[in-house]
Amino acid sequence: MEKPIIIVCKKIHQSFYNAFDSSYDVRTVDVEKLGRDELFKALMPAQGLCSMLSLQVNEELLEAIPNLKVIANYAVGFNNVDLDFCRRRKIKVGNTPDVLSFATAEIALLLTIAISRNLRASSRSVENGDWNTWEPEGFLGQDLRGKTLGVYGLGRIGSIYAEKMQELYDVKILYHNRHKIKDSPFQYVSFNELIKESDVLSLHAPLTEANKKVFNKDAFALMKYNCILINTARGGLINENDLYEALKSKQIYGAGVDVTDPEPMSSQHPLLRLDNFLCLPHIGSATETARKEMAEICAENIKRGLNNQVLLHEVL
Ligand code: DGY
Repeated sequence: MEKPIIIVCKKIHQSFYNAFDSSYDVRTVDVEKLGRDELFKALMPAQGLCSMLSLQVNEELLEAIPNLKVIANYAVGFNNVDLDFCRRRKIKVGNTPDVLSFATAEIALLLTIAISRNLRASSRSVENGDWNTWEPEGFLGQDLRGKTLGVYGLGRIGSIYAEKMQELYDVKILYHNRHKIKDSPFQYVSFNELIKESDVLSLHAPLTEANKKVFNKDAFALMKYNCILINTARGGLINENDLYEALKSKQIYGAGVDVTDPEPMSSQHPLLRLDNFLCLPHIGSATETARKEMAEICAENIKRGLNNQVLLHEVL
């Protein structure tokens, strides 16, 4: 009997490979190294595909993989996958929620503290040889205690982040989601209220057509001058040119992001010259444990998809 062919779009955690015995043909293709035609050729035989957010799994690509039954996206987000096309072709799509929530919330927390305490400017001063003496008035940051935290997208990651911020700083918590959450301990507000009231505004919502670049100059104009903007969700939520203007003119206090649009952010990007902006290279889920568990879920999603079973974490 022919072995089912599973293709992983870049080497991932070993626990993925360990989940398959010799009855499967598991191949790793470093898709970023291939041109369009080579890529289509390499992925063509796949029945199971383990994709990731750096690969646009769009109609053109999917047309080139005629026998595909299941896509396991190595991420909780799935905005890189054309779900409408998958629905039409009856391709199952899975993701990896929960196991990365704590790790990602932790990066949001880390960025929040880093921006509130001027980490970028102060560490740069050491690197530039500007640390001459202890400065009584130098790099004074913001105290977060008792402030108002706004969470845009109170899902699994946003909730952990909100709880940790409450434990540490006794913040008042507001949130905005598409729908109010029944029994949430936090206060639901409109989008405009959220951006007007928040001292810290943290983004955790999935990127959709409806909220693309919703954090733009109109939104920045409504924010408080001391507002700290954090994004560990998707870069496409923010208009980065408008963010640059808002940070440069001190219309808002600072921004810490783990995601950009596009990724990677160019090392020449003007935002990177600002002292009130800090950017990490999309490392929200980058802990050994989270990546191991994400890999295990992907393997299970693929096995189930190949057997026409309901996926462990099913998007479609
Ligand atoms: C996700 O899972 O969507 C993250 O952005 C990558 O781990």
